[in-house]
Amino acid sequence: MRRIRTEQLKPGMIIARPIYSDDGKILLNSGVELKEHFILRLEQLGIASVYIQDDLGDYEIPEVISEATRVKAIQTLRNSVNQMRLGKTLDLTSVEESVTKIIDEVLDNDDVLISLTDIRSFDNYTYGHCVNVAILSLVCGISMGMSKADLKQLTLGAMLHDIGKIKIPEEILKKPGRLTTEEYETVVKHAAFGYEIVKKIPRFPRRAALVIYQHHERINGSGYPQKLKGEQIDLFARIAAIADVYDAITADRVYQKGILPSEAIRVLKGLGSFHFDLDVLSHFVKNIALYPVGSSVVLSDGTSGVVVDVNKRYPARPIVRVLFDGKGKKCEPYEVDLMKNQELEVTSTSW
Ligand SMILES: [Fe+2]
Repeated sequence: MRRIRTEQLKPGMIIARPIYSDDGKILLNSGVELKEHFILRLEQLGIASVYIQDDLGDYEIPEVISEATRVKAIQTLRNSVNQMRLGKTLDLTSVEESVTKIIDEVLDNDDVLISLTDIRSFDNYTYGHCVNVAILSLVCGISMGMSKADLKQLTLGAMLHDIGKIKIPEEILKKPGRLTTEEYETVVKHAAFGYEIVKKIPRFPRRAALVIYQHHERINGSGYPQKLKGEQIDLFARIAAIADVYDAITADRVYQKGILPSEAIRVLKGLGSFHFDLDVLSHFVKNIALYPVGSSVVLSDGTSGVVVDVNKRYPARPIVRVLFDGKGKKCEPYEVDLMKNQELEVTSTSW
């Protein structure tokens, strides 16, 4: 199994993981052979990449939440937003139910490193992003030893961090490439808009609201809307800020290929003390699979292969199925656990 870009798909290839439509139904199931018109449909839907079968073998991609819970959460968000567009208030109870389910599943899977492998279309990009930011923030909160009550507020805020975008014109939000100054100034308003929306809901938790208001603030004061600095920014918002940027730069989109987790972590560390809380960042990094299952890697002895499992305590030391020798020739496959072979390391990676 491997993940490839939609433009590289060819008729005859076999789908290895189900692809869901925006309303949560299976569009193409695993095992389905691709036909020309399926590929066209995937392109129309804006699905940038899919998993296909190949002769590299099959392996489970470990996920912190079940596909069913992810699909349900996306549906809940979609319904709430549609209702709000019609003038109704946010359906807080449904969103809270989703949040509780996610928290329970993540707490049950605490040995799994995060590798977010969801496939998103144009339309559910935003909702998929919200769910990912919720999961990433939650895992960080767990790693920091938070109480369940705090985890609930953090995850709820992270899930709804961009709720203010319902007041921003779609054509600006979906515009590929650079925004004009005017458009940028409009987008910036979503943080305050979101805060205003949830402030009107009497039982909306205070710190969840702060996540919505402050998730674009930066430690050095360069963020928005209030240009807060350091600990003026609520801890929960400092967590969601990292999760938000991480998911945005790793997401695969039609017009922009996502960068790999290991590169994304380098970017976050590079922005480090200017933008982010370094203590939070170190907790965050510990929980990300730097080389997720299914990614291709080259090892320091020149051999290469595919990651088949990860070590929770050592994200940089996965288990690799070696397929090519040091000269790039196909060899009899064998597995190396980089935890047990400390002299070897990953030197480069790709999907
Ligand atoms: Fe945002």
